[in-house]
Amino acid sequence: MKNINLLSFLVLICITSCLDLKKEEKKVKKYVEEPHSFSKPNEAVVTHLNLDIDVDFDSKQIKGSATYNITNNEASEIILDTKFLEIHSVLADGKKVEFSFGDFNKQLGKALKIPITTNTKTVTVNYNTTSKTEALQWLSPQQTADKTDPFLFTQGQAILTRTWIPIQDSPQVRVTYNATVKVPSSLMAVMSAENPKTKTADGVYNFKMKQAISPYLIALSVGNIEYKAVSKRTGIYAEKSVLDKAHEEFSDMEKMVSAAENLYGDYDWEQFDVIVLPPSFPFGGMENPRLTFATPTVIAGDKSLTSLIAHELAHSWSGNLVTNATWDDFWLNEGFTVYFELRIMEALYGKDRANMLALIGRQDLEDELEGFKDAPNDTKLKLDLKGRNPDDGMNSIAYDKGYLFLRTLEETVGREKFDVFLKNYFKTHAFSTMTTEKFIAYLNTNLLEKNKIEFNTKEWIYKPGVPKNQAIITSDKFSSVEKILSEFIAKNKIEAVLTKDWTTQEWVHFVRNFPKEITVEQLTIIDNTFNLTNSTNSYIAMVWFEKAITHNYRGNNVDTTIEAFLTSVGRRWYVSTIFKAYKDSNKVTEGLAIYKKSRANYHSVTANTIDGMLGYEE
Ligand code: BES
Ligand code: ZN
Repeated sequence: MKNINLLSFLVLICITSCLDLKKEEKKVKKYVEEPHSFSKPNEAVVTHLNLDIDVDFDSKQIKGSATYNITNNEASEIILDTKFLEIHSVLADGKKVEFSFGDFNKQLGKALKIPITTNTKTVTVNYNTTSKTEALQWLSPQQTADKTDPFLFTQGQAILTRTWIPIQDSPQVRVTYNATVKVPSSLMAVMSAENPKTKTADGVYNFKMKQAISPYLIALSVGNIEYKAVSKRTGIYAEKSVLDKAHEEFSDMEKMVSAAENLYGDYDWEQFDVIVLPPSFPFGGMENPRLTFATPTVIAGDKSLTSLIAHELAHSWSGNLVTNATWDDFWLNEGFTVYFELRIMEALYGKDRANMLALIGRQDLEDELEGFKDAPNDTKLKLDLKGRNPDDGMNSIAYDKGYLFLRTLEETVGREKFDVFLKNYFKTHAFSTMTTEKFIAYLNTNLLEKNKIEFNTKEWIYKPGVPKNQAIITSDKFSSVEKILSEFIAKNKIEAVLTKDWTTQEWVHFVRNFPKEITVEQLTIIDNTFNLTNSTNSYIAMVWFEKAITHNYRGNNVDTTIEAFLTSVGRRWYVSTIFKAYKDSNKVTEGLAIYKKSRANYHSVTANTIDGMLGYEE
């Protein structure tokens, strides 16, 4: 009897302590500190979003409701991020509740606090966007290619999704989503989800995104667009007058996807489409899952700028599958993606092309390091962006130093081992988020210790600048360009025949390496021989404009051409490079005169950057 009692006592203890253990486990913090979101996902987290919205081009507003499935870890409220949204009402499991706001923060917006109970399963927010929204750009027909209909696109990265959807806007929070989107019936809506291939009669579109993605990847475009398949799982959305050109330009899309799969494992998103947006799109490309958003400025007519497609495709692994946990870990997204991009380019077009791209990036990195010489902390891979706009950390360092780190690592351990490592890295961490520290631990265990290799990982990641053991990248093609350039500078003569087979990358390298002392006379000879002012290649034009401004070249009506470029193209990298040339050569007034006219055409992310650069205030 006694024994039995003792036994049942022990069993009881075990049961209660096991239960305690379960509770403990439930409380384990899964999400790391996130300085750019008010949400507290360890307490209550959104798992699925159901969006029901109307896209109103007259009032330039998105109106409707967002309903979330939530998991509540015993919290009494759930916190969403919002910025510049009007919230009309909030419901918990269909019943109206009293919501409240936190203080407004210029960068982060404000917390929307919604009371919940342990049993709450869904929360609904009725809202509309306002004219201050930063994610949306509403375009007039005049700003599109066909000039017949208005256009709308969103840009979520880094923390702008909260300006068009109330959401837990941290990359660590992954959601699946459904959406019902109503648009004018002459237009088609597409999202980072399963997409329509034709217009519907009533302008209502239903979307489903069954893979969980970070909120910065929720995206929408609405315009008079059509679809043209490149292969079964790849294709293009664009306005009518752009569609065929884009289709030609990106005809290697399927080959890129296959090459990527050969390198680092299956493409997990089923469809890989690209939408070519109007030229004010602020980025070269944005890796919205299943549907990359792209600038039309990469359509050069000779496929010479399509590494952008390889780049956005690579994000389907590095970024969308394995996602930076916070914006301090941004290099995990972009550094890996540049590395992967160049591997895809190498697989399709050979080492020469990949190395030219790598060297262009190497020079970008050098320029960026020089620009940050008074702020060395910003040249670390792992950043500390607390209290700052994450945009501050989104420069070449993450891309090009990140690339150089991985290339150096590849060369140290050997490509074969490195590829196995990367493939496993993506597979092991698919659909999850990654911190820099977790990556280092994984790297140590699975590559370095395993193969008994010493590597100065911490120096690369936590120290400013570039360590000594960097990979040395060379290109015979670029050496030859440099030789031709120095002969020209010495002799003031250049024969067009020498450059007749040059690719875009060689032209870019040529122009970017003009010596400081290059004269107006020499620039005139070059422009008279090659007509770079009127280059139809946006990249060559951009680097040429930069030099024209810096060195006071005014021939060939270049000023008019620069102004026309700046008023039609909103790609931030291009626009900021050109305005920076005005600024750095003491021509801010001239720059501002153009900016006052061009600013209205820019998306908020481009306008914000240039406002800051030129000291412009509305
Ligand atoms: N994800 C980025 C764009 C981005 C970065 C948006 C930071 C918002 C904040 C995209 O993949 C990218 O890197 N685009 C580059 C193209 C590229 C080939 C380097 C761009 O836009 O120029
Ligand atoms: Zn990228």
